[in-house]
Order: sequence, then structure tokens, then C-alpha cells
Amino acid sequence: MRRVGVLTAGGDCPGLNAVIRAFVRTAEAQYDWEILGILDGFEGLLIPDGTRPLTGDDVRGILTRGGTILGTSNRGNPFAVRSLVDGEERVTDQSAEVIARLKELEIGALVVIGGDGSMRIALRFQQLGVPIVGVPKTIDNDLAATDVTFGFDTAVATATDAIDRLRSTAEAHHRVMIVEVMGRDAGWIALEAGLAGGGDVILIPEIPFRVDRVARAIEQRSSRGRTFSIVVVAEGAFPVGGQPITQKRPGPDRFVRLGGVGVWLAEELAQRIRYEVRATVLGHVQRGGTPTAFDRVLATRLGCAAAWLVGQGDFGKMVAVRGAEIVPVAIEDCVRIPKLVPPAGDRVMTARHLGISFGD
Ligand code: F6P
Repeated sequence: MRRVGVLTAGGDCPGLNAVIRAFVRTAEAQYDWEILGILDGFEGLLIPDGTRPLTGDDVRGILTRGGTILGTSNRGNPFAVRSLVDGEERVTDQSAEVIARLKELEIGALVVIGGDGSMRIALRFQQLGVPIVGVPKTIDNDLAATDVTFGFDTAVATATDAIDRLRSTAEAHHRVMIVEVMGRDAGWIALEAGLAGGGDVILIPEIPFRVDRVARAIEQRSSRGRTFSIVVVAEGAFPVGGQPITQKRPGPDRFVRLGGVGVWLAEELAQRIRYEVRATVLGHVQRGGTPTAFDRVLATRLGCAAAWLVGQGDFGKMVAVRGAEIVPVAIEDCVRIPKLVPPAGDRVMTARHLGISFGD
């Protein structure tokens, strides 16, 4: 092995740079590889100037930086590249070009830092003979096969800080504040930020809610003299018999974009309760900024472990957290099913015992 490629793919996430730094520094100190950074996810393998060499000097000072020095994209699936030809959308498979490019660049192994979508792409390349090591990332914390993903802790910290701030204005104005957080089909961010921020109602996709029950929980608080409430709602949460609210424009590669449930719920609640209701959508604020100490450490351990796997030639694997350890797991196990909040798990039970309503 002489040269190893590394790329970040999918939505960004605090801690990506910490992984890149740890990987490059381990590669430099322990192995004799050249590291080639691939720009903007897999897209960098489909364009002429889509790579840059990475040395210890290049990764100096990036531990605390959000984003990714390599750029990323959640548009770049080489197995289904979309383009417009004469006003019509064409989908082409450019995976052969990617494999040819990897050969041309003499890349002997590829480290893919990505979420479930990127791991699915990585798995297909592995099956076509490209030696792959995966590093899981997502703020949503919904990847199976790993107990936790870096970025999640930072997103929860950001959401908790927002809730803390909203609490004081809610209290001053005797209002109901709804905070919509990210997470796609998983309610991890809403649940943990709701617990950390002392939310009164937490709505998650795993537990469909009834608006009347949410309204009742707020009125019950009011009867105990609490004249304000905090409702934390996951973007993918939906009422019983309903569907998650999606944005009109789909995301890249036609991904459904979630969002809007907070504003919708504010309107519904305003018709049922006597308090004023306001909705705040945190959106991409949760993806930006410097990673927490927890995420920096986790990302560093994963970047280092990825280098060990490459060194051992243990390909088709992803580095994962199991209990207190980092272990290799088959990439296949990561992409099979998402990890959702168990409705009868201890976090939900803890919240219920504290009197937090899930609107069910
Ligand atoms: O998967 C991470 C995530 O931030 C989700 O929580 C959210 O639904 C989605 O990405 C947003 O994607 P985009 O950056 O394409 O708007």
C-alpha cells in the first residue's frame, strides 16, 4: 500500500475534521502512506482536479473546526448521477469511471467518512473490488451497528443551548415555545435535547402524537401554575394517522426533505390553548460549529482506528462504537436498518416518569 484516499460524503457534521486529522496523523506516524484527500465526496473522483494531498501540516489546527476541509456532497452517488440533457433528467451509472480514476491515482484503499447513504455507496464499491474502510457520521445518531455517532453530542448541545435560551423568553411572555430539531426519522436529538433542556413535551417520529394531548399537557401545567411550556419536536414527528411534513422541494438525489412540523403545530395549538405559541426551527445550526470535547475525542479515536484497519488490510469494515470500545463491523450491518428510539427504552421511560408528555 502506497497511497490511501479519504473522503467525506453526505451532510456535514461536527467532528469530520477531527477524523481527517487523526487519520492523516496516524498514517504519517505509523505507516508510510501518502494520503490523498478527495474533494466533495465521491464527486471528487469524477472531475479532473478533485483531489489534494494531505500531510500532517495540512491538518494542523483543524481539530476544533466544524465542516470538512475536504468539502462534501449529498448529491454525488456515482451509481446514479443525475444530469439535465435537453431539459430532460438523465440518470447514469458512473461507477466504472470512479474505479478507473482510483486506479489512475494509484489509490490502494479508500476511507469513506459518511452516513448510511454514503456507506451504501461504499459497500457497492467494496463489492466491485475497491478496498474500503468506513467511518460512520451523522448528527442524527440513527446508524445501526454503532452505539453512537460523532456529531450527535454537538447537535444535542446546540439544541439544548437553544432550549435554555427559549425558556427565559417563554417564561417572560407566558408563551408556549416550540423548538423543531433535526433527526430525520429518528427522535434521538429531540429526546436528548428535550431531557437536557427540561422540555415539557417531546414529540418524536417513533411515538405518533395527538395535538389534543399536547394541548392538554400544556393546560395541565397551567393548572399547576406554570404559565409557559417548552415543546421539543423532531422534524420527522407526525400526528397519529398522519405523515411527516415535508418541504416542497426535494433534497439532492430526490431525498425527501423534512421540516415544517413546528410551524404547523404552533397553528394547531393556537386554536386549542389560551397561550401564545411561537415556533423556532433550529435547522442547520445543529450541524455547524466546533465539536464538543466528546465528539472531538470520539472522532479522533475513529480516525485512528480507520488507519489501523487499513494497515491490517481489514476492508469492507466500518469502525464502530460498542460499549467502551471501537470495533470493526461489516459495513453491511450498518446500512441494513436505521437505529430508532425504542419507545419503551429507558430514556423515554425516564422522561415519562418526570411527567414529560409525548403527546400520545
Ligand atoms: O442527516 C442529517 C440531516 O441534518 C438531517 O437531520 C436533516 O433532515 C438533513 O440532514 C438535512 O439535509 P440537507 O443538508 O440536505 O438539508
